[in-house]
Amino acid sequence: MLAYRHLFHAGNFADVHKHALLARLVARMRRKPNAFRYIDTHAGIGRYDLTHEWARKNAEFADGIARVWEVSDAPAPLNAYLGLVRKLNAGGRLRFYPGSPALVQALLRAHDRAVLSELNAKDCVVLTECFAQDRRITVIHQDGYQTLRSHLPPPERRGLVLVDSSFDRSGEYERLALALREAHRRFATGVFALWYPLMGAAAVAAFERKLVASGIRKMLVCSLEVYPPSWTASLRGCALVIVNPPFGFEAEARTISTWLAPRLARQGEGRTRVDWLVPE
Ligand SMILES: C[S@@+](CC[C@H](N)C(=O)[O-])C[C@H]1O[C@@H](n2cnc3c(N)ncnc32)[C@H](O)[C@@H]1O
Repeated sequence: MLAYRHLFHAGNFADVHKHALLARLVARMRRKPNAFRYIDTHAGIGRYDLTHEWARKNAEFADGIARVWEVSDAPAPLNAYLGLVRKLNAGGRLRFYPGSPALVQALLRAHDRAVLSELNAKDCVVLTECFAQDRRITVIHQDGYQTLRSHLPPPERRGLVLVDSSFDRSGEYERLALALREAHRRFATGVFALWYPLMGAAAVAAFERKLVASGIRKMLVCSLEVYPPSWTASLRGCALVIVNPPFGFEAEARTISTWLAPRLARQGEGRTRVDWLVPE
């Protein structure tokens, strides 16, 4: 039984950081003419209605996307992401928020493909309905870690993989590190983006040590902290580790993170980090 439902969290600060960076990864993948495949192992329901009572319960989006979606002077690397949010809410009232599948769908070219897996049966039904008309997209009801085994390497030999676990089981940092090791063995040239929460400095440090010990090169960490390190009452920060980031992504990630940090901070100025866990 999976208790986690992303609708409670849709559009929060962590989604904004993750999706703004994801949009740039896709944009960079599109710079080469050959097709690529996007694999979203923990896809959620695809798109979110922020007027739903679950979304309104803690209104996490109020301190996330609501703070930035209408700002007119955001730096250029945020244009595609914020532009899509504005397009979904053309009436000028924030109601719809694109999850990673809807965001990527809007950026895929005709010859690119996507595979979305979701383990929660109910959410998977919604996800399937959401993308039923798009022949580029395949939805599967499957454990995302199994999807990595069954879908890597992709037939196109070019791919972007998002592993966005809900971290609702113990041992998830270990599972994630292990999954990356195995997935990278299958598809060493793939671009991987792994999301993780900044919960407990020791657990995060142990996770990052495990990543380093994997021997995988070219790993960039992009993190955002909206509360100080001592904060424990709620999620205080989040990070993406990106394996094989495309050329030019690092500078854009820095621009995006630096702009977002003070705007999404809950206490103080917010902190951000974009640096190499392991260089080339
Ligand atoms: C953080 S949410 C995904 C959000 C989505 N990637 C986005 O950015 O819009 C995590 C999702 O993973 C699903 N999930 C949890 N464990 C899973 C697993 N082992 N395999 C696939 N999906 C899983 C949850 O039901 C939830 O919908």
